[in-house]
Amino acid sequence: MTNDELKQAVAAAAIAHVVEGAIIGVGTGSTTNFFIDELGRAPSRIAGAVASSERTAERLARYGIRIVDLNELTELSVYVDGADEITATLAMIKGGGGALTREKIVAACARKFVCIADESKMVPMLGRFPLPVEVIPMARGHVARELVKLGGQPHAREGFITDNGNVILDVAGLSIDNPARLEAAINNIVGVVTNGLFAIRGADVLLLGTSSGVKSVMRSAT
Ligand code: A5P
Repeated sequence: MTNDELKQAVAAAAIAHVVEGAIIGVGTGSTTNFFIDELGRAPSRIAGAVASSERTAERLARYGIRIVDLNELTELSVYVDGADEITATLAMIKGGGGALTREKIVAACARKFVCIADESKMVPMLGRFPLPVEVIPMARGHVARELVKLGGQPHAREGFITDNGNVILDVAGLSIDNPARLEAAINNIVGVVTNGLFAIRGADVLLLGTSSGVKSVMRSAT
């Protein structure tokens, strides 16, 4: 199966986690685009969606799905999104598409985070994919120096501005043996908006597309 076929398969499987008539959270990226297209087959299945990026909002709106402001809600039943890397404990690196901050905000408001990913995203340890960090523009140099102290090699993402008007530093070379601790440490640097580690609030369910079918992995209780 091709990667796109695996993405399509997990996107279809995620529909089983969608609560009929609810407002759901929708992530960003090529895998999530397949999920939006699945939602588009029966747009009235949900009452609306909170989008994690402008491009997701545009795609949802094309199917006539109502875009809801997160501030109108207190909670979402489910958030569905992809990942750039994910471990067996369902910690992730996200933000390859640059939407990490809004993704993290929407995920924080969801009772259940369903990650959809093809098997190429499963890793024993996070960090081969450079970690995206969203930064207030005037703090770019300061944050980059602090990231070097943590052992990383930051590179400014060229020609890219986030939906929030900020820049992204992609950080290579980090040893991420404790994702939750590193997530907190990077978020503590002045000028960082957030980073692409999703470990403090990881996924609750992973739908992993493999050549032998979609595997469902639940986060184990800690
Ligand atoms: C967007 O900012 C990202 O977090 C994506 O969710 C993640 O990069 C996965 O994207 P793909 O499904 O395109 O691999």
